[in-house]
Amino acid sequence: MLTIITNLEILKLMLIVVIVPLVDVVLISFLYFYSKIYKTNDEIESEELVKGIHNTILEIIKKREEKVMTGEGNSIGGDFLQLLVEAHHDTNASLKISIEDLVDEYKTFYIAGQETTSTLLAWTIFLLAIHTDWQEKARKEVLNLFGKQNPNPDGITKLKIMGMIINESLRLYPPVIAITRKVEREVRLGKLTLLANLLLYIPTLALHHDPKIWGEDVHLFKPERFSEGIAKASNNNIAAFFPC
Ligand code: HEM
Repeated sequence: MLTIITNLEILKLMLIVVIVPLVDVVLISFLYFYSKIYKTNDEIESEELVKGIHNTILEIIKKREEKVMTGEGNSIGGDFLQLLVEAHHDTNASLKISIEDLVDEYKTFYIAGQETTSTLLAWTIFLLAIHTDWQEKARKEVLNLFGKQNPNPDGITKLKIMGMIINESLRLYPPVIAITRKVEREVRLGKLTLLANLLLYIPTLALHHDPKIWGEDVHLFKPERFSEGIAKASNNNIAAFFPC
């Protein structure tokens, strides 16, 4: 059957097919450029904070640079910041890092390292304050190894009792209680098939408190469970202990 389209209908069709999408494109472009020029108060504050953090870090780096340049840095102990500052001044161009890289590294180790380490230390001190028998064992071990000397990196690796205490503290009170991952592509994991784009929530805290893994005394502070390593402590589930 032949259908006759009137001029008005052609106009309507044009409106739907051409004009509406065109208006959409113009509107979206306008909003895009407007958002680039106009900033919300939150965005302004956020940019100021980023600048503030950047400048504070630059100041800290500058102060340390002066110490490294005058050789005073060695007397205060070579820490990670010192290594980064030295890398920034490396005469070998392929090893030299830029000031931007230095600031980024600083942010990473400050943010990733500061809160986690202080949480671990706070819980460990608390646990040792309650469990004075372990406090005594730890003190004895440290004094045996270092006497009146300041602890040094080589000696610290030999602290077995302290290692057990720290592991038990990290097991009971992991500073990071869960980690998340996104599955990049479909993968088989034991009996499971994980689909691409799946979001995984891995609950560190729950696994560290599972009696099937650690035994019925799971909620108790017992550093001795780590005396023969993580595999023995976790009933051969080493992957179930992942505080870091
Ligand atoms: C008790 C101390 C610490 C604990 C419990 C801890 C815990 C963790 C955990 C669970 C992750 C994995 C996060 C994830 O993948 O979702 C991680 C990553 C990381 N940590 Fe730590 N951390 C500690 C100390 C430190 C220190 C001292 C530094 C640096 C000075 C540091 C630097 C990093 C960095 C660079 C990452 C990788 C971040 C990334 O994904 O790119 N951490 N840490």
